[in-house]
Amino acid sequence: MSIINFIEKFKKLNRTLFTTPSHGQGDFVAPLSLKHIGHKFFTCDYSEIEGFDNLSNPIGIIKTAQDRAAEIYDAKATFFLTNGSTSGIVASMYAILKRGDKVLIARNCHKSVYNGLVLTGAVPVWLMPQYNRDWGIFDAINIDYLEEILSKNRDIKVFIMTNPTYEGVMSDIYRISNICKKYNVILIVDEAHGALWNFHKALGTPALIQGADIVVQSLHKTAGALNPSALLHIGKNSPLGTQAIKNALNLITTTSPSYPLLVNIEATIEFLNSEKGKLYLYDFVKNVNRLIRALKNIPNLEVYSYNNDVTKILVKVTNMSGYELSNIIYEKYGIEDELANEKSVLFLTGLGTSKSKLKKLEKALSEICANNIKITEDDSEKHFEPIEPRVKYTPGLVWGREYKEVELKYALSRVSMELIADYPPGIPVLLPGEVIKKEHLEYLSDRQKIKVLV
Ligand SMILES: Cc1ncc(COP(=O)(O)O)c(C=O)c1O
Repeated sequence: MSIINFIEKFKKLNRTLFTTPSHGQGDFVAPLSLKHIGHKFFTCDYSEIEGFDNLSNPIGIIKTAQDRAAEIYDAKATFFLTNGSTSGIVASMYAILKRGDKVLIARNCHKSVYNGLVLTGAVPVWLMPQYNRDWGIFDAINIDYLEEILSKNRDIKVFIMTNPTYEGVMSDIYRISNICKKYNVILIVDEAHGALWNFHKALGTPALIQGADIVVQSLHKTAGALNPSALLHIGKNSPLGTQAIKNALNLITTTSPSYPLLVNIEATIEFLNSEKGKLYLYDFVKNVNRLIRALKNIPNLEVYSYNNDVTKILVKVTNMSGYELSNIIYEKYGIEDELANEKSVLFLTGLGTSKSKLKKLEKALSEICANNIKITEDDSEKHFEPIEPRVKYTPGLVWGREYKEVELKYALSRVSMELIADYPPGIPVLLPGEVIKKEHLEYLSDRQKIKVLV
């Protein structure tokens, strides 16, 4: 039976619960929560009571829902995550990597990979993806460069990469997974931004069906689910078993998973997999494509269209930095983007992006370009250029070590004890254990001090 059906039936049994959660399925709801969240959410919130299942070792309704999801996604196993992709990434690393193991990581990774490095004590080898200066974004993974690194470092055990990138750029996972297999390397793909791909062919090809061993997807980013719901899939032909992942997830996640989130995860997958859901998604993608076509006709506006997921609308305006465009569209039109850089601005769309919202964006961009509106000359934002890291100590080795704060002018060549990663996108610029270079100081020029290893 599905989680949703079970809860519906359970409610009718009218049981008297002396259990957690203490709100008693909505018998108490703090007044402001009632006003803003509503009562119904609480009526779905249970613990591991009789008949319910346990996310840490599912044998009942959660197992049924996860098995069904695995079937839908064509995975060996699928895990529901109520702690976001962050928990999936950390658990994947924890399940596979031991202290001292070498792991290749594309540097445009999410900062949760750093958490995994601290916990596992693994040794990172950084792959620097090409940086596209015209757009201020990272390009796809260069396959030859990947092969070169793997052939020179035969002891690398795992490769972790983000696909698509935050801005939607897609790499050739099929070729990457084949190279990983050739060098006996486990491939973990952070597909946090590709959760719709399994349900619409024109968006991108899921890493799971291209040979990745582990794929992590955030359902909240594009697929319309609640924060922070996510999925972890194990590839059908992967040598990895499910127990190690389960153990690692249990080590880092709550023992009180949110049933409202589990219900929402199940409902989202069922919807996406239904005829109605497919039509809805088809319509959404059609609307986004219509907007992109319209944007391409606006003079002085450029839309990024090169091997990317169309739901991530990346634009730039002639003679205007991304930061300026971001400020204007926010201040004059009340439109908030996902992120901006010195060149471009990213508008993230998803299942909740209505036609009228897209229209509003089109109108705003068209007016800005027609009138060349400028509100501020904003040069306060940081200029980002990827900086090749120089690892002195692995993150696990410096965790908890003594540090002190020094003025930036004394920080050159010291070992950082800070994780510098603006959010979004949460891509690390400098990690604890890495040597502070001149380029870091330029990037951090608006700060006074930085924590360094004593
Ligand atoms: C590429 C990428 N991976 C992972 C994450 C973490 O996802 P979650 O918020 O679901 O934990 C993010 C969040 O911003 C992300 O952008």
